[in-house]
Amino acid sequence: LSAGTLYERIGADTLTEVVTRFYGLVAQHPDLAPIFPDDLTETAQKQLAFLTGFTGGPPLYHERYGHPRLRARHLPFEITPQRAQAWLACMREALRATPGLAEPEARELYAALARVAVHMVNSD
Ligand code: HEM
Repeated sequence: LSAGTLYERIGADTLTEVVTRFYGLVAQHPDLAPIFPDDLTETAQKQLAFLTGFTGGPPLYHERYGHPRLRARHLPFEITPQRAQAWLACMREALRATPGLAEPEARELYAALARVAVHMVNSD
C-alpha cells in the first residue's frame, strides 16, 4: 500500500518529464502530428495542468481554463480508434522512458488514461 495521491507518488518534476517526452513522441507520430499544432508548448502546458489535477494534485487546469469538457474540446479533431491507440502508445512509451517513474505509478496512470482515451474517439 502506497501513501499519498498518485500525483505525490509520481512527483511534479517526473510528471513534467512524462509530458515533455509524450509531446516529443506525438510530434513525430505520423497519425498524430497532423492534428496537433506545430508548436506544442501551450498544449504541453495545458496537459501538465490537466494531469496535475487528474492525478490528485492541485486543480491547475480548472483554475486556469475552467471545466475541461474533454470530449467536447476534442470534437474539432478527427479522433479515430487508430489515433486513440497511437496516443496511448506514445503515452506508454513516455512513461516507460522516464527515469524515476516507478512501475506501479506508471501502470496506474496509464490505466486511468486508457479509460479516458476511449471516450475521445469521435470518428471511425
Ligand atoms: C488537447 C488529441 C486524448 C487531454 C488536444 C488537442 C488534440 C488532442 C489534437 C489540441 C491540441 C492543441 O490545439 O493545443 C488527442 C487525441 C487523443 C487525445 C488524438 C486520443 C485519444 C486525450 C486524453 C486526455 C487529453 C486521454 C486526458 C487525459 C487533453 C487536454 C488538452 C488536449 C487537457 C488541452 C485542451 C485545451 O485546449 O485546453 N488533444 N487527445 N487528450 N487533450 Fe487530447
